[in-house]
Amino acid sequence: MTDTGRDEPSRAERSLAERSPAERSLAEPVEAGSLRQAQGAPAVEITGVDKVFDTRSGDVQALEAIDLTIAAGEFVSLIGPSGCGKSTLMRLVADLDEPSTGTVTVFGKTAKQARLDQDYGIAFQQAGLLPWRTVADNVALPLEVHGVASATRRDRVAHLLDMVGLTEFADRYPDQLSGGMQQRVAIARALAEQPRLLLMDEPFGALDEMTREKMQADLVRIAGETGAAVVFVTHSIPEAVFLSDRVVVMSPRPGRIREIVTMELGPDASSGTRAGRTEGLREERAFFDMVTAVREALHGAPVAGARGVETR
Ligand SMILES: Nc1ncnc2c1ncn2[C@@H]1O[C@H](COP(=O)(O)OP(=O)(O)O)[C@@H](O)[C@H]1O
Ligand SMILES: [Mg+2]
Repeated sequence: MTDTGRDEPSRAERSLAERSPAERSLAEPVEAGSLRQAQGAPAVEITGVDKVFDTRSGDVQALEAIDLTIAAGEFVSLIGPSGCGKSTLMRLVADLDEPSTGTVTVFGKTAKQARLDQDYGIAFQQAGLLPWRTVADNVALPLEVHGVASATRRDRVAHLLDMVGLTEFADRYPDQLSGGMQQRVAIARALAEQPRLLLMDEPFGALDEMTREKMQADLVRIAGETGAAVVFVTHSIPEAVFLSDRVVVMSPRPGRIREIVTMELGPDASSGTRAGRTEGLREERAFFDMVTAVREALHGAPVAGARGVETR
């Protein structure tokens, strides 16, 4: 079953996706203490977070009592019905909004400081590429904005395009690419500044199923290669299982964490490189077992059919 209630990204999300963290941070002064090292700090630490939106028709409690710690290098997916607060939680981590109560830290810093330090890259459902720039120039943009020397920039862009399999398309323009290719450009751009954290809100939501599975395999490999932690929002249970070390299952509004399911997919799939996350994994018993575990966490066991999430 396919969820038809998938949200379009908000204007804020789109404009954020269009501007790299580098561009956004240029507009703001770097605070003292930004070079403070936070070795060993988790990638994300969310403690006692509530989010209430004050709307004309009254208060909307979007998130309630959220506690979540994501380790450096860990891949965590957020899954739950539409409107349960997944994007809101992501926006708090990205410092696009503030919690009503509680705290969010990123590598031991405030979310704002992490944004200023470009500790994370972001990719949302819309690729948000600049249509008048080539693929290579889109990927290079954050580096250009930061005054990275052109030779270094060329090398870095070549490496990133190789990583996402787009070397041959470096000189094309976004409208000459498929949706999947555009998303790969957006992922390369998000990785340009070698962030230790990637925030991805339904980045594959608009892609066909085959492209989507290919992108999932690519993302797993890239996350393993770069060692970046990833926070990944999805409606798809198999997608969450294939990608994640842990799947955070959220309840309908007010969004709470219902359960955190640790993926047990065999030693190769769980090691640092996630080398066992190959296409074959999707056929394995352990994979089906984990899909079932996440479905049951979402709906209560046993379930005849899922509501509000994809089960394909
Ligand atoms: N800026 C806002 N103002 C008022 N309500 C909002 C705002 N952003 C989100 N919400 C509400 O908060 C809830 C969670 O939204 P969201 O985080 O987008 O959910 P999800 O991404 O899980 O679909 C929804 O009820 C939504 O209508
Ligand atoms: Mg959303």
